[in-house]
Amino acid sequence: MSEKLKVAVIGAGVGELHLVAFARLAAQYDVRVLCALDDPRTQDLADRFHIPECSESFDEVIARDDIDIVDICTPPTTHWPMCNQAIDAGKHVICEKPLFGSVAEVDAIAERLANSDRRLMPIFQYRFANGTQKLRHLMAMGLCGRLYAATMETHWTRGDDYYAVPWRGKLAHDLGGCLLGHAIHAHDTLTYLLGPIRSVAAEVATLVNDIEVDDTAALSIRLENGALVALSVTLGSVDEISRFRFCFENMTVENNKVAYTPGREPWSFNGRTEAIQRRIDDALAAYEPQGQGYTEQLRLFHASLFGTGPQPVTLQDARDSLALVTAAYHAAATGRTVPMPIDAQHPAYTGWTADLRNALAK
Ligand SMILES: NC(=O)c1ccc[n+]([C@@H]2O[C@H](COP(=O)([O-])OP(=O)(O)OC[C@H]3O[C@@H](n4cnc5c(N)ncnc54)[C@H](O)[C@@H]3O)[C@@H](O)[C@H]2O)c1
Repeated sequence: MSEKLKVAVIGAGVGELHLVAFARLAAQYDVRVLCALDDPRTQDLADRFHIPECSESFDEVIARDDIDIVDICTPPTTHWPMCNQAIDAGKHVICEKPLFGSVAEVDAIAERLANSDRRLMPIFQYRFANGTQKLRHLMAMGLCGRLYAATMETHWTRGDDYYAVPWRGKLAHDLGGCLLGHAIHAHDTLTYLLGPIRSVAAEVATLVNDIEVDDTAALSIRLENGALVALSVTLGSVDEISRFRFCFENMTVENNKVAYTPGREPWSFNGRTEAIQRRIDDALAAYEPQGQGYTEQLRLFHASLFGTGPQPVTLQDARDSLALVTAAYHAAATGRTVPMPIDAQHPAYTGWTADLRNALAK
């Protein structure tokens, strides 16, 4: 495999942000083809990013010998069949969130890839940001102390224009609502920073838009380490924020609240005493800023394919986020607190569709 990997990007919506990142990583990646279905944005993107070919056929694209990586940026229900087809064709795969519609599918593809040299990397670009990474740094140094409580708000705005795109808001295509599609970045931040979840209680509702899935949710989570987390989601907020607040024994940490880049600086790290604050300030002065967003995730993926680092986001990471979604929809449907982990014996292991319907019918 040549060090410059040849890429097919599938999808011309958020695919644009992937193209920006690939263009910044021109020494590592060469986008050979952009594939989308009857989408007027395709040729414009191909022109702007100097992509030599456009295609409307996923099957033809993955059959090509000159493609190393298939980058899937299409609607949620297409992820499972496309990932499997691309792996069958011998490609590495990158896939947008939400990866799949069940924990069972994540486990099945992990089993398929266990004895393969092919890789599948789910996208969770929010975690590549210096605020989030500074907190990781302080935690790794043992400065934070025990976590008592955290709140995570995903308060965004979505209306008719957003749902005019036919797949959005339809259970059969979108696979879920705000809890799956929008708050999944908060779920990833939660499990990435704070570790395994012990149990989940939840309520979901459709309050803002005339859609088939949830657009508002409230979760009450107990972490394995004993801390309690409250997670609030709505797509009906007048102003858009993603707010994270973590109350540790030694400090309280708050993020920048910016809706779509919540992990980026500035974050505040407020020490309990002056002595602790000095240690925080010294530790942060020694922190080396890292790359951000899609560009950093894709840069690290390239490095991992050539053996110079771990895969930056793994199937286990996608599983963790989808297990939380599964537990939350099940909790909302049954009115009970759901213990984790979600294993093959769990009634929603193969999907949360029935739970979501039941929860919204309450
Ligand atoms: N990580 C993030 O922050 C982020 C942000 C936005 C969207 N997303 C995710 O990205 C995915 C796409 O969302 P979007 O907003 O770009 O949707 P979109 O509707 O704007 O674009 C989807 C694209 O996929 C193409 N497509 C659909 N089916 C196809 C097929 N069978 N073959 C080839 N092309 C096909 C369409 O032609 C279109 O170009 C979703 O899973 C969404 O949740 C992630």
